[in-house]
Amino acid sequence: MTRLALTHHAVNLAQGFPDFPCPDELKKAACDAILADYNQYAITWGAKDLRETLARKVRMYNGMTFNPDTEITVTCGSTEAMMASMLAVISPGDEVIVPEPFYENYGPDTVISGAVPRYVPLGDDFSFDEERWKSAFTEKTRAIILNTPNNPTGKVFSKKELLFIADLCCDHNAIAITDEIYEHILYDGNRHISIGSLPGMEDRTITIGSFSKTYSVTGWRVGYALADVNLTECIRKIHDFLTVGAPAPLQHAAVAALHLPESYYRELAAEYDHKRRILFSGLRQAGFACELPEGAYYIFTDISEFGMKDTEFARHLVEHAGVAAVPGSSFYHEGGDTKLRFTFSKKDETLHEACRRLKKLS
Ligand SMILES: Cc1ncc(COP(=O)(O)O)c(C=O)c1O
Repeated sequence: MTRLALTHHAVNLAQGFPDFPCPDELKKAACDAILADYNQYAITWGAKDLRETLARKVRMYNGMTFNPDTEITVTCGSTEAMMASMLAVISPGDEVIVPEPFYENYGPDTVISGAVPRYVPLGDDFSFDEERWKSAFTEKTRAIILNTPNNPTGKVFSKKELLFIADLCCDHNAIAITDEIYEHILYDGNRHISIGSLPGMEDRTITIGSFSKTYSVTGWRVGYALADVNLTECIRKIHDFLTVGAPAPLQHAAVAALHLPESYYRELAAEYDHKRRILFSGLRQAGFACELPEGAYYIFTDISEFGMKDTEFARHLVEHAGVAAVPGSSFYHEGGDTKLRFTFSKKDETLHEACRRLKKLS
């Protein structure tokens, strides 16, 4: 979609990355780290000060305690953290539960790790069907993949839902691999809860995070996996051979990110709330059926009214309106062709221009 968007000079609301700069403090910290000669391999599992600062942040924000020496692995983005975690815990033929729709990487991740995916559909309003979850667990279930706040739906899993999933994991001796990359992008008083902080989940959860979205540095490729010492030992072995380590100077700069004041996170969420409303109103006026998301920075729309399937409609949108979005079927193992995902991780002016162009549809 991004390639097609470039050809047609379309406003790209397909790929989820900001077109605005990251905080100045981070740019300066990155330059300082390079000038201070942090330019060789970092410790494989991550720079010590980054692991220690992360441990403090996670204790305060997520309510979980990890030993920075043995339970934190810094990775090349959450993308690597997810792949390394799956390769670490899954044996070919193990079943992995994946709520659907899902972030598109989880499909290839299951294939590469040899897992057999069992998809659990969310309702049309992204509701949670307990019976479906119960019947997805079998004696072969090794893990579940969770993503809250969720891409593409914007769903924020509630404490009740997470407690229910946690009970199933405990009953079936399954591991929760949870991608919490949007943990600070929440709206309307929604709260982020890490499933790893719930009773019984301490030793059976791998919590994945990243600097990409919270600090608008998707190109830095710094993420992490948090897990108890036994799981971490396995993750570190895979991580070592996959990438050796994450970029050394940017790990040092990531420490500066973790030292940003509380107000940074409030302003981030408020800024995205404002952007969410610009895009939502533009989409509604153009005839898209959608709701405001609870978290993350996407609006997942229903396009049934337009009478075209997702890929055809996405192409039509680029060619005739000059706006790019992601076809819904990218987020389903089958189906999803009545959906389209738009991101609002863009400057206000970019969003206003996209909304102006979308009017051509109505
Ligand atoms: C749910 C989710 N996980 C992971 C990623 C990739 O994150 P990273 O840049 O940390 O590899 C994305 C990017 O869009 C995402 O939406």
